[in-house]
Amino acid sequence: MLDKLNQLCEDALAELKSQDKQDKIDTQTALDEWYGRVIGRKGAVTLLLRRVGELPREERPAFGRRANEAKQALEAAYEARAQEIKAAELACSLREGAIDVTMPGRPLPMGRLHPSTQVLRNIYDIFAQMGFQVYHSPEVETDEYNFQWLNMPPHHPARDMWDTFYTTQEGIILRTHTSPGQIRAMREFCPEPIRLILPGMCYRYEQISARSEIQFNQVEGLAVGRHVTLTDLKGTMIEFTRRLYGAERVMRFRSSHFPFTEPSVEVDMDCILCQGEGCPVCKYTGWLEIAGAGMVHPVVLRNGGYDPDEYSGFAFGMGPERIAMQVYSITDIRQFWANDLRFLEQF
Ligand code: DAH
Repeated sequence: MLDKLNQLCEDALAELKSQDKQDKIDTQTALDEWYGRVIGRKGAVTLLLRRVGELPREERPAFGRRANEAKQALEAAYEARAQEIKAAELACSLREGAIDVTMPGRPLPMGRLHPSTQVLRNIYDIFAQMGFQVYHSPEVETDEYNFQWLNMPPHHPARDMWDTFYTTQEGIILRTHTSPGQIRAMREFCPEPIRLILPGMCYRYEQISARSEIQFNQVEGLAVGRHVTLTDLKGTMIEFTRRLYGAERVMRFRSSHFPFTEPSVEVDMDCILCQGEGCPVCKYTGWLEIAGAGMVHPVVLRNGGYDPDEYSGFAFGMGPERIAMQVYSITDIRQFWANDLRFLEQF
């Protein structure tokens, strides 16, 4: 039995020391399993020690002594191995969690301004230099502001130019253009002279395509005072365009029709890509349309509170997305609200 004890002890110690990859005891769990198997309550050594009574009386003291030594040796080996495992685990976690302070930091992705916002801000800057203030007016409008007070009575065919989103509330619509802000501004400032731009989102009930969106920005301009003339409108549009697109731009004013201006014009400039030669961007006309404009209609002036016999004014409306499309050769207007980073990150 003494031999068996010695053998058990030797095997168990050898197992602890084994470097063999497969049965290496290198985790606390494996070590605990070893402990249970060897000196736990049902461990091989423990069970053997219980059998001491089977020995002849004279052999028992020697066996007892040896048994105690063996148990102590095994306990000590267990403790030592446990320490080693703990140290190894600590070293490993230190190695894995190590921070190299000389490494460059991870760059944070920087946000940027949406291309429409960039163009809007350029427009604000230029008009601010010319003495125009920014005036905000609501995106949810009444039929009166959006149409009637702009000289478009109910059922007037001129309304066909603007397809509207109606709300379930009678007479409440999403504005189709920024022009209703003209009435709001005039009513607020009358009889003072006015020099404003009115930027913001507009909505139209339209088939979405590469050229039309149901939502887009506009920038409206409005100047009202005594002796404001068509020449002032032309000068303002020419100056604005040259500051935005370059001093060499050539302008063209074509007569047109809007219910809220008389006379009305379309403002064109020579195509920035082909310098008027003709290319796909200008559809081979050599010209790009940049704004609708005109002298504020007497009916509209009166609806704003100004006497058209004393006051006159000019107004214009332009689309920042259209401007961005021209400047950056963007061929599909749907890109603006598609939230595609591959598009947005180019600006
Ligand atoms: N509101 C017009 C539109 O959405 C644009 C416009 C044309 C505005 C002429 C004006 C203007 O102020 O005078 O099509």
